[in-house]
Parts: sequence; C-alpha cells; structure tokens
Amino acid sequence: MGLVVNLRSRRKTAEDNSFTQMLFWADMTMWDAARVHALLASRREGFSLAQPFYVDESFHALDLDAVFMNDWLFALNACEIPQPGDYQTLEVGETSVVVLRDPHGEIKAFFNTCRHRGSRICMEPQGNVHRLVCPYHQWVYDLDGSLLHARQMPPDFERDGYGLAPVQLEVICGMVYICLADPSDPHSITPDLSRFRRAVTPYIAPHQPERTKVACSMTIVENANWKLVIENNRECYHCSGNHPELLATLVEFALPDDPHGSQDFRRLMDDKARQWDSLSLPHLPADGGNEFRCIRLPFHRGAVSFTADGSPACTKLLGELTEPDLGSVRMFRVPNNWNHFLSDHIMHFRILPLSANRTELRTTWLVHEDAVEGVDYDVETLTSVWRATNDQDARLAANNHLGIASKVYVPGPYAPSEFMLRNFTNWYADKLGAYVERASSKPRTIALQVSNG
Ligand code: FES
Ligand code: FE
Repeated sequence: MGLVVNLRSRRKTAEDNSFTQMLFWADMTMWDAARVHALLASRREGFSLAQPFYVDESFHALDLDAVFMNDWLFALNACEIPQPGDYQTLEVGETSVVVLRDPHGEIKAFFNTCRHRGSRICMEPQGNVHRLVCPYHQWVYDLDGSLLHARQMPPDFERDGYGLAPVQLEVICGMVYICLADPSDPHSITPDLSRFRRAVTPYIAPHQPERTKVACSMTIVENANWKLVIENNRECYHCSGNHPELLATLVEFALPDDPHGSQDFRRLMDDKARQWDSLSLPHLPADGGNEFRCIRLPFHRGAVSFTADGSPACTKLLGELTEPDLGSVRMFRVPNNWNHFLSDHIMHFRILPLSANRTELRTTWLVHEDAVEGVDYDVETLTSVWRATNDQDARLAANNHLGIASKVYVPGPYAPSEFMLRNFTNWYADKLGAYVERASSKPRTIALQVSNG
C-alpha cells in the first residue's frame, strides 16, 4: 500500500472552534504504484494481460480511478429520456450519476449526491420529476442542479454554494457520454472527444438516432472482469464455435480486406462498397487508433438485419432511409461502449464494472420513433439473436475469468484476427501507466476538520 501521511501544520480556525489539520498525502489508495509499474513493464504486447489485472480487487479499484473516472463513458441514448424531467441513474463504482432532461429540452448530468449530508437523491433507476428532492431532509434542487429550498436552514444560509455537482456531458448523434473527472484538474488525463465526434458522425447521422425510441432494454450481470467482456466483444475468433444465431447473418470478418476473408466475402464487400458509395454512406474503417473503431460491414448476402432469417426486424426503416440493405455500422469506443447501427434498428451496449469479477451489461434496442409494436416490429424477433448472443458471450467471459484465476494462468498470444484486443490492451496499459505516473508524482493536499470538542 502506498499510504503516506505527513502532518505539516495545525491551526485553529476563527469561526468554528475546530482545528484544521493540513494533511499531505502522496497516494491514499488500495493499489501499489511500484507493483503496477512492474506489471506494466513486464507486459508483453500482443499477449493477454497478467492475472492481477483481471482478478485482483486492488486493480478493480485502480481501473475505476484510472479509467472509469478519467474517460468518457457511454451513459444512454437521448431518446431514453425524451420528456422534460425524465431521468436515469447509473453507478460508476460507488459513485451515482443522474442524467436528466431539463425543461428546455437540454440533457444534463449531476452527481447523485445531496449537498446537505450526502444522501443519494434519486433512488430509482429511472423516472420523471419536476424537481430533485432528497429523501433524507427534503432539500429541493431544480433540474439545472441549483438548490431551491433547504428547510430549517438559517436565513443567512447561502443556497448558491450548494448546487448539485455537475458531470461533464457530450451528446454525439444522440449518444450521451459523461465524464466524472474534474474539468478544472490541470492533471486530468481525460481525452478530448472532438476527434471521435468528427469521425463517427458521418457513419451514424444517416440513421438519425435522434428520431428513435426504445423498443427494449435489458441488463445482465456477467461473472467476469470488465476487460474480459470487452476482449470477448472485440474478436469474432470465438463466433464460429459459439454463436450459431448470430452467424446466420453476421459476417465474422472485421475488415474489408481481411486476409482470411473468402473470395465470396471479397465479392460481397466490393458489391456493397459500390452500393454504399452510390448512397454516399461511408463504410471504410475510420482512423480511431486505440480509442475507437467505426466501420460499415455487410451482412451475409440476402440478409439485412440481426434476425433468425435475416429479414428486417422492423419494417419502418430509421430516419429517411429507404434502402434496407445497409449492413451494420459497428462502432466501439473505449472503455465501455459498442454499438450497431442498421437500416431498421440501433443497438447500444454499455458495460459498467461491479467488482473485479462482475460486470453489468446493458443492451438497448432502438427503432424509429413512429414504429408501432405489433405492426412494424415485435420485441421477440427484434431481440432474440442478441439475447442469445449475450448469454453465450456471458458464459464465455465467465469461463475465461475462471481459467485466468487459476494458478497456472500465464498471458497468452492474440491471434491476428484478435488485433482489436492488442489495440485495447495497449490503450489500457497506456491509460494505467499515465494515471499511476501522475498519481505517484503529485502530492495532494486535503483539509480535515477535527473538532476539539
Ligand atoms: Fe439530503 Fe439531508 S442529506 S437533505
Ligand atoms: Fe461473442
């Protein structure tokens, strides 16, 4: 453990008869910087990570700090909170966030923690409110986060200083991303989202996600570390042995010029490229480095959607689209989000780590806002392929986690088709390295109020 505490000064405050102790600490965390550095230094690129990264609770704590508190997280689609006052909550580790739509139609996010004595405010995963009222002592907040009422507080109580803490938020093609880092922190390692926004918008915008509604949303918990959930998602090496429903329509190659692609796949790709070019729909892989991926890939010939027989899952196509055979825009962004944008529906996948060996996966299916259930689509047909696929992937990831926990596990080599795992683990190692470097070199100061009774 790297806990370092030095008592530097002690002074009496004028107004409250308490002492302020100025404590300086270098690292007040569960993880050991030297151990993290050593493990990162011994990492072999192109191989899976060392065991502690996947199974050790101290690394779970480090991942929350270094990754989930210091990057942009997919939260939800704007269409999930369509009306003023609609909100949803999500938990990032112990930290709860409320994402809401204000009376002006703007989407905002706040830390779901009362400024009185810290109670959670919104206790339900979703709802609609005119105001945010803390259930403990009923402090009342406006939907812009400002404190409106604080009953029984003295007349000179300054409400202005007690608004809800805002969470950074960006909306990209209807997708709401939040960042829990402090934007005023000069040492922040939060990336700029503008490159991502510029790159993915031309692929996604034609599907008009802002004109969608939720057809189904489903949450499961996978018994695996979040990185194994991502790694499993980033390759289709496992598909032929495990995903019969998915492979009825999905082409398992990840690149248009995949060296393992058959002659038939290359002909299909050429045909589709010509068609999509004629429709001005981008399809070649975007340059997302290790941060994101965006590409349009076809389904098998004759299939247009993720259904058992490849027929449309929703007869009302998205936005103004008229051509059903648009393949799927596959978009992924570290650390917690992958998506499919089809002609007839959109799927968002969001993961959040619960512990070293448990990960929440939320899948949301969106259809055109005017599509009618039972007429244009039915939920069973729309969701059956990916419900089966999610269950299969959950088993694979859980088995992977169990095997990694064994004393004989050592990192193993990625296959060429697992190139996205190489990208992901390189990104992860860089992220962790930068965070640990910063945390180790930056003594911080806290003020601790101690009553002298
Ligand atoms: Fe919220 Fe007291 S903790 S009103
Ligand atoms: Fe899979």
